[in-house]
Amino acid sequence: MIIGILKETAPEKRVALLPESVATLTKMTVTIYVEKDAGMGAFATDADYEAAGAKIASKSDVIAQSDMLIKINPPTDTELSQLKEKTVLLAVLNPFFNTEIIKQLARQNITSFSLDVIPRTSRAQSMDILSSMATVAGYKAVLTAANTLPKFFPMFMTAAGTITPAKMLILGAGVAGLQSIATSRKLGAVVEVFDVRAAVKEEVIGLGGKFIEVEGAVDDKAAGGYAVEQTDDFKKKQAAAVHDHAVKSDVVICTAQIPGKKAPVLLKKETVEAMKPGSVIIDLAASTGGNCEVTKNDETIVHNGVTVIGNSSFPVDMPTDASKMFGKNVINFLKLMISAKGEFNLNWDDDIVKGTCVTHNNEIVHERVKTVINV
Ligand code: NAI
Repeated sequence: MIIGILKETAPEKRVALLPESVATLTKMTVTIYVEKDAGMGAFATDADYEAAGAKIASKSDVIAQSDMLIKINPPTDTELSQLKEKTVLLAVLNPFFNTEIIKQLARQNITSFSLDVIPRTSRAQSMDILSSMATVAGYKAVLTAANTLPKFFPMFMTAAGTITPAKMLILGAGVAGLQSIATSRKLGAVVEVFDVRAAVKEEVIGLGGKFIEVEGAVDDKAAGGYAVEQTDDFKKKQAAAVHDHAVKSDVVICTAQIPGKKAPVLLKKETVEAMKPGSVIIDLAASTGGNCEVTKNDETIVHNGVTVIGNSSFPVDMPTDASKMFGKNVINFLKLMISAKGEFNLNWDDDIVKGTCVTHNNEIVHERVKTVINV
């Protein structure tokens, strides 16, 4: 079997597989082609890939030679136009939004797997690229806040007096939120946390955060560890509680999401306007509308003296470890489809393989994607 790794388009700096992950595949007798300079953004040279057993080639040669192509971002128009029929494609296709690309992949008879729809089951945990990237984002969000805030994070007792620690408010304690709590605590900030799922309270406390409870949250145990839509009454109570804590905070990190829905708005415009000038809001949910009412996706704005950062691509700024985690997740996923001898086997009885496949045999085969694309 031949697998090709394509170079991403700037400003993306990550690469789907670093040389260390390529070495795992070449040991399984898989032949790997890597597009020239594919790893440069993540500090992996062509020589490093060759040492791991890969061959370096141009984009068109990689596409022409490979049975399977692996990317992070969806294929570009140029790549799409060169894809051979029946190629297997692995990428983060974001299929609920990139509907035209999905239709095109079906028309071209590409078997595509969208790594962002891998079912979030315990067996699939080691393949969960969303959790890996959320970990990077939760960490980077705190560092960005620390760099932007005109104050220290830790408490200092100096000859020039005592510096009080920064106060953080973290909205949502899922993967990104928990990483933000851990990183903020390491930097010495005082951390308060809101979430609608009572199950995360112990984890928040264990990481040194204070869990703020608002009574009446709908916590559906059947939602598989995810949040569900809240009642209007709860939303009002929560907005008031968030307001009271936000106006006393130096930094708010927004990470609340309900999968497949627009991000819940938890931080109202009037709350931002009541916050202290110089405070910082980092809205990780910006790409789905943001938890803060004034967030602008992929922009940094200053609203009434408060800096609001809507960066939706923090993992791009940590390309080495983000690529390393991405690659490990991909290898674990590939192990469901490639035998130890390097033979390709599409096992449709495997719920992870089936649940991740978006197009096959000229059709859109993913049930949820089908409902969005209306086929
Ligand atoms: P997750 O699903 O693991 O966690 C979200 C948390 O929000 C859950 O604990 C949930 O209970 C909580 N939540 C939902 N509604 C809430 C409400 N009304 N009030 C309080 N908490 C509520 O999600 P994950 O993986 O941690 O991702 C968080 C966000 O970060 C997502 O929007 C994701 O798209 C985004 N993200 C952003 C990146 C960036 O570079 N900006 C990179 C990766 C992820």
